[in-house]
Amino acid sequence: MSKTVLITGGAGFIGSHLCDRFIEEGYTVYVMDNLITGTLDNIEHLFGHPSFRFYHHDVSNFVHIPGPLDYILHFASPASPIDYLKMPIQTLKVGSLGTHNLLGLAKSKGARILIASTSEVYGDPEVHPQTEEYWGHVNPIGPRGVYDEAKRFQEAMTMAYHTYHGLEVRIVRIFNTYGPKMRLDDGRALPNFMSQALKGEDITIYGDGSQTRSFCYVDDLVEGIYRLLLSDYSNPVNLGNPEEITILDFAKELIALTGSRSKIVYRPLPENDPLRRKPDITRAQEILGWSPVIGRGAGLKKTLSYFEHAVKA
Ligand SMILES: NC(=O)c1ccc[n+]([C@@H]2O[C@H](COP(=O)([O-])OP(=O)(O)OC[C@H]3O[C@@H](n4cnc5c(N)ncnc54)[C@H](O)[C@@H]3O)[C@@H](O)[C@H]2O)c1
Repeated sequence: MSKTVLITGGAGFIGSHLCDRFIEEGYTVYVMDNLITGTLDNIEHLFGHPSFRFYHHDVSNFVHIPGPLDYILHFASPASPIDYLKMPIQTLKVGSLGTHNLLGLAKSKGARILIASTSEVYGDPEVHPQTEEYWGHVNPIGPRGVYDEAKRFQEAMTMAYHTYHGLEVRIVRIFNTYGPKMRLDDGRALPNFMSQALKGEDITIYGDGSQTRSFCYVDDLVEGIYRLLLSDYSNPVNLGNPEEITILDFAKELIALTGSRSKIVYRPLPENDPLRRKPDITRAQEILGWSPVIGRGAGLKKTLSYFEHAVKA
């Protein structure tokens, strides 16, 4: 009998890559998604697969799945600043009520649950690079608070189910990830820059571009998540690529890669935008034997072919 995994947010960017990986590994995969930021295009190739099933449902409402479940991967949540600023209440609900519903489902099925947390739990960090021991620097009532605090609550609730009910939990703190199937208009730096460069539009940098990010290719992330799920480690684990780059250099890299004539223009930095971001991945290296293996050059090339196609579509 194959193992069964429920992936919430499976029609989104990361979730759809997870679906492919678990199908490849021989699992039965159920996706639950309300399609507020995801699209069926990301998983349409799996419809009709005998081990795949899709549930169109908002996980902030009561969740029921018939039959046994071995694993739950809770990835449902608006994830880009544009999305969560447009949907602040849904974001808070899916991180809190949605997580509570899925923890309850995991408990009733005796399933192990892995929840998608984020580097945003560190806020605008005062510690660099960010280790899992750092508690963060978050403004709860700032514009990003709806996402950051939902994810912090999600972690707290998940740990409570672990300590109080003995539920098997895994917590991944994901740092900026990129790759095919990102939405062109999701507002994050890479899709913005790539689609602007491909359309020959000005490349918009918020602030002076000296803020840093580190970008992880999605296949590396999926490998880390897969290993974490099957590990026996219950505390949070950072997954991301520690190679740090300024946003300005990143924009220049994309202009060079696309051969675009786009100019760089500067706009005011949004409130509470983190200035530096780089994961300390020692824990993932030691516990999961994981490190990213796909460099930015190779990852960006793979992503570019997807975006070239998407811009024309
Ligand atoms: N992409 C990143 O760099 C990154 C970084 C840190 C954390 N994460 C986390 O990873 C997860 C996936 O992010 P993504 O980049 O793939 O985003 P995405 O927007 O592409 O995917 C999110 C999916 O969740 C679905 N969804 C949202 N609310 C829902 C609800 N209430 N019920 C059911 N489905 C719902 C959306 O329709 C979408 O398909 C999120 O939890 C996000 O917080 C992503």
